[in-house]
Amino acid sequence: MQNRRQFLRQSFAFSALASLGSLPSLAAPKSPTKDARHIIMAGDWGYENNTAQLAVARAISDYTQQHTLHPEALLLLGDNWYGPLDGGVDCPRWKTSFEDAYPASIFPGPIYGIPGNHDYQVMPESKLAAELAYAKRPGTRWTMPSLWYRVELPAKDPVITLIALDSNVNIPGHKAKLPNFTLTEAQQAEQLTWLEAELSKPLNTPFLAVMGHHPIYSNGMHGDHAVLIQDWEPLLRKHNVHLYLAGHDHDLQHLEFANHPTSFFMSGGGGADLYKITIKPEERGPYAQRVYGFSHLEMTPDLLTLRHLDEQGRVVHAFTKRRDNSVQILTA
Ligand SMILES: [Fe+2]
Ligand SMILES: [Zn+2]
Repeated sequence: MQNRRQFLRQSFAFSALASLGSLPSLAAPKSPTKDARHIIMAGDWGYENNTAQLAVARAISDYTQQHTLHPEALLLLGDNWYGPLDGGVDCPRWKTSFEDAYPASIFPGPIYGIPGNHDYQVMPESKLAAELAYAKRPGTRWTMPSLWYRVELPAKDPVITLIALDSNVNIPGHKAKLPNFTLTEAQQAEQLTWLEAELSKPLNTPFLAVMGHHPIYSNGMHGDHAVLIQDWEPLLRKHNVHLYLAGHDHDLQHLEFANHPTSFFMSGGGGADLYKITIKPEERGPYAQRVYGFSHLEMTPDLLTLRHLDEQGRVVHAFTKRRDNSVQILTA
């Protein structure tokens, strides 16, 4: 509890500092550096009514074309399929809401997926089993080699190490709604051991990010996650992780905590119905907004630039992050 109060207080101090230090205008969305590399991300995208999802997907295509970006990868931050996925790998939703929505002309490279809570639903088939099977199809861009995995991006001259996790952990006192709605306790322990081992390995890249569907801290409806605060947050701090990427709350967020190396960056506006913001960014921030959209990670060996964009492709928040973990907010 002490920690929590401390975080809230520190965060407020950060927000005040951030707004004082913010720049009057945003740097041009086009990469200022010729050799920058780009990753696009979106979360909570595979909604049954895909009207909003396809609008965001169109905005992604337009934005990448307008700025002549050639993204190295697309990260899809979980809740890949809401509702039934009839036929599993053969479900037509794979074509309409995945293959056509994020076309190979924009994303010829890998599209990384992680499991969200909705992916664990058995309706009556396991959607997660279908996602793991779809990733085994020859030539597919959908990449989910296992429930948790490590990758360096781009494949050539990598700039960032990405540790992808399954955040569907057991929450004491919460009864899962369906059987197998979370990792088993054995899997959860195995993943935590693996995470500690991976974070202890020497880095081949200047930057390090961890991603999981559930936020550790969130100003959205789901709030802070007690188990992830206990199990994962100390490891992010200890190993100087630059970014924690998540979805789950259907909004866009960026949270900073004083003296914490990690920027918490949430992109859950990819298509599912939006949620209310429950903690205002003035209280804990610098940014939380109930808005559909996606996110852009621009990378050079010295600097990450992160942008949240709405469904019209307008930048709604942006900041830079250096290897020493310093953060510069680019939007007020
Ligand atoms: Fe979701
Ligand atoms: Zn979720």
